[in-house]
Amino acid sequence: MPISNNKKDKLRKLLLEESQDEAVLKFPPNFLWGSSTSSHQVEGNNINNDWWAWEQEGLADDHQVSGVAADHYNRYDADFSLAKELQQNAHRLSIEWSRVEPEDNEWNMKEVEHYRKVLLSARDKGLKTMVTLHHFTNPMWFVNSGGWLQKEAPEIFQSYVLMMIKHLGDLIDFWVTINEPLVYASQGYIAGVWPPQMKSPIKTNRVVRNMAKAHILAYRSIHNLLDKDKFKAKVGFANNVSSYQIYNKHSFKDYAFMQGVDMVWNHWFMHLTKNCHDFIGLNYYFHYRIAKARFSQVQFFTDIRKERRESSDVGWEIYPPGIFDVVMDMSKYKLPIYITENGIAVEKDSRRSRFIVSYVKELYHAIQAGAPVKGYFYWSLLDNWEWEKGYNARFGLVDVDFKTQKRTVRESALVYADIARNNGIPHHLLKFVGHVTLGEITVKD
Ligand code: BGC
Repeated sequence: MPISNNKKDKLRKLLLEESQDEAVLKFPPNFLWGSSTSSHQVEGNNINNDWWAWEQEGLADDHQVSGVAADHYNRYDADFSLAKELQQNAHRLSIEWSRVEPEDNEWNMKEVEHYRKVLLSARDKGLKTMVTLHHFTNPMWFVNSGGWLQKEAPEIFQSYVLMMIKHLGDLIDFWVTINEPLVYASQGYIAGVWPPQMKSPIKTNRVVRNMAKAHILAYRSIHNLLDKDKFKAKVGFANNVSSYQIYNKHSFKDYAFMQGVDMVWNHWFMHLTKNCHDFIGLNYYFHYRIAKARFSQVQFFTDIRKERRESSDVGWEIYPPGIFDVVMDMSKYKLPIYITENGIAVEKDSRRSRFIVSYVKELYHAIQAGAPVKGYFYWSLLDNWEWEKGYNARFGLVDVDFKTQKRTVRESALVYADIARNNGIPHHLLKFVGHVTLGEITVKD
């Protein structure tokens, strides 16, 4: 249900007035309200990695290339000032491995110094730093020697991690070793969509296991080198966790299949890296409806636009209760949970505002029900390079004009700022934005 113009004006006025509301769905004290980015998606000119090479072959939609991206490499300071103005108190970013180690065991100290400046800038603005060490991209020299398939991959990754601990360790509040290992492995090694475009379940298995070993080595190194006295580093990985539902509740076969998929997709990497997490990084985007127990039904990035359910511009279902379900499920590990990514690609920004309020509201309920959620990072601070979709998907709180690099703060960013300022959801947002149920708008079956 669209909101009327009159209501829109009232909402805008409230947002601009930065009004305080007495009635707020309050979040716990010290809750982190941030947003996420990753190096290749925003920095620009990451010329030494496998994605850059892949793009030059014209494989992304409309043959696009990442090019200068959002030029965040040069504009990080102004971008962090925006995040601060938008009331955020944390930021998740990634280090581009191919910048700091452009050749095997050759370190570019200028780039290392660059990331020191980046992290200092974030800290200066009161943003806690959450740093991802591997966000899908690999240096070409690593790929050429076998990438994540080679036996030595975990140790090779560890030597990069050791350098980062030594030179940046004092500036990092949260370490995310690897972003979405299962998405990386399945997109690159089963679906064959991302580099290195292979289609082999055996290789996928090897990649996942090597990444798990790499996580364990990184976890241990970070603790060995940084823990002292009362200080303990905080290390995790970002797990892409999906919620599942079966159409036919009476089919035992479908139910068993769903349980199997859930076990592999959501929990396998947790098991492979058991006892090596200080928190759970949870990226939530997908709700899958399993029609028949067939592997093809759980392919990634299933486009449900034809089903007439409400979905984002890229065809992903909007289903707020899903985040409640996965958070409750992941609570069983009894570790602090940070939503390291959650976001929507839409041109129509009012839909992003509704998305944020509805998903954060579900988190509020999960916390009330006992889930140890400690932070939420919206994906993404800026419009960015969305992998094979190029610049066609707009996830940002801040609009980026890729020709001029002009930043324009979207209204949804103000809605999110309102939540961060109030450390919860003020009732005026519920009144103007939050009462629309986004999931289940039209049901086909
Ligand atoms: C990835 C991001 C990506 C986002 C939206 C996540 O799986 O970590 O890099 O941009 O999804 O597709």
